[in-house]
Amino acid sequence: MISNKIKDGIIGNIKIPSDKSISHRSIIIPSISVGISEINNLLMSDDVMHTLNAFKAMGVNIEKSNDQIIIYGKGLDSLKKPNKNIYLGNSGTSARLLTGLLSSQTFETVLEGDHSLSSRPMARIMDPLKLMGAKFENVSGTLPLKIIGKKLNKSKIEIKIPSAQIKSGLILAALNTEGLSHIIEKHITRDHTENMLMSFGADIKIEKKNNQTSIYVKGKKELKSNNINVPSDLSSSAFFIIAALINKGSKINLNNININPSRDGILKALKKMDAKIIIKNQRTVSGEIVADLEVEYSNLIGCELDAEMAKFMIDEYPILSIAAAFARGTSVFRGLKELKVKESNRLELIRLNLKNCGCDCEVINDDLIIRPSEEYIPKNNKIRTDFDHRIAMSFAVMGSKIGNLIIDDADSINTSFPNFIEKFNNAGGNIL
Ligand code: S3P
Repeated sequence: MISNKIKDGIIGNIKIPSDKSISHRSIIIPSISVGISEINNLLMSDDVMHTLNAFKAMGVNIEKSNDQIIIYGKGLDSLKKPNKNIYLGNSGTSARLLTGLLSSQTFETVLEGDHSLSSRPMARIMDPLKLMGAKFENVSGTLPLKIIGKKLNKSKIEIKIPSAQIKSGLILAALNTEGLSHIIEKHITRDHTENMLMSFGADIKIEKKNNQTSIYVKGKKELKSNNINVPSDLSSSAFFIIAALINKGSKINLNNININPSRDGILKALKKMDAKIIIKNQRTVSGEIVADLEVEYSNLIGCELDAEMAKFMIDEYPILSIAAAFARGTSVFRGLKELKVKESNRLELIRLNLKNCGCDCEVINDDLIIRPSEEYIPKNNKIRTDFDHRIAMSFAVMGSKIGNLIIDDADSINTSFPNFIEKFNNAGGNIL
């Protein structure tokens, strides 16, 4: 796709797609609960459909119409061995969460993914699961991964890497494991799994003490079905928020956005950058905090973010880097090691593509430094995305300011934001 300069700003009420993280969990948790769950506003993106198809392949009856699904759950032990390998496309969340869940089932499964997912680390979830007795046939530490499902042992496990996917995988394994499992998290990560499980009647207790969270899960307690309304995704909103902030004349409204405090770092970072964002009508829907956002073109200033911030907004650095490229003054984003193992090596692709756009940008250790220019003259207008949706959308937003950026593998956008191009163009964008 080619992203061109826009004439006027980004304008209007924009309906942002539903939250990807919550959508995955809205399939997984009802599928292992007892009873009928109705899920409204499920994100119908490629990643989420891979999770949905995995559960259908394991015998769960799921009816789908428009953006609603009905799941007929039959309990923790009701999943059946699929008759072929489970293909998860590009979806890291499906891979890590299903590895945890399937480790404590009593059948073998093989998880597979696309080229990008097959190079992402799986040992981070396999290793702590092995402490519970989980068995795998795999030497590479990447997909394809054969999971030898078996009865696991309750354990006390401290998570070393800040990752909601690892935490959620362990919690899902503990749900089907006799006794009380104790999962310790030293970093805050998104807590959608815990929130949803509580509303499904799980025996789960959370204790926070001195920057450490203890999650106690009593296994073998059947979950009860519940209905879920999935809110809109803050990570997907970020592309429109930043497009509006950097393009003169912009004003947008985004409704029903999930602003869960374990994930709202992007709003805090943009506040530091002097962004005009009004957060209103804060309320709780299906256990998650949502609000409406009003965003206006702003004269942004550069900012420094410490490594702690990365836990609250890991997915938003690509698009935040675009904001930084149009701010006044240097920005420094520290401690971005985890960005290297996302759908692509995002740290490297942000650096490379910003540099090609003519921006003075460097990575020192795991810190990203962006020194904006008054004017950008691209040295190379071909944006490399390595099939990473967030890199593609971030540089589409860059293109709205500097024009004529050719973005490869734009199909990756369907993993999280189907209709992005149409929505962006309807709001004033110019993507061909
Ligand atoms: C996710 C957790 C994050 C995030 C990913 C979605 C989730 O990954 O980057 O897009 O739904 O749990 P990590 O847990 O690896 O940080």
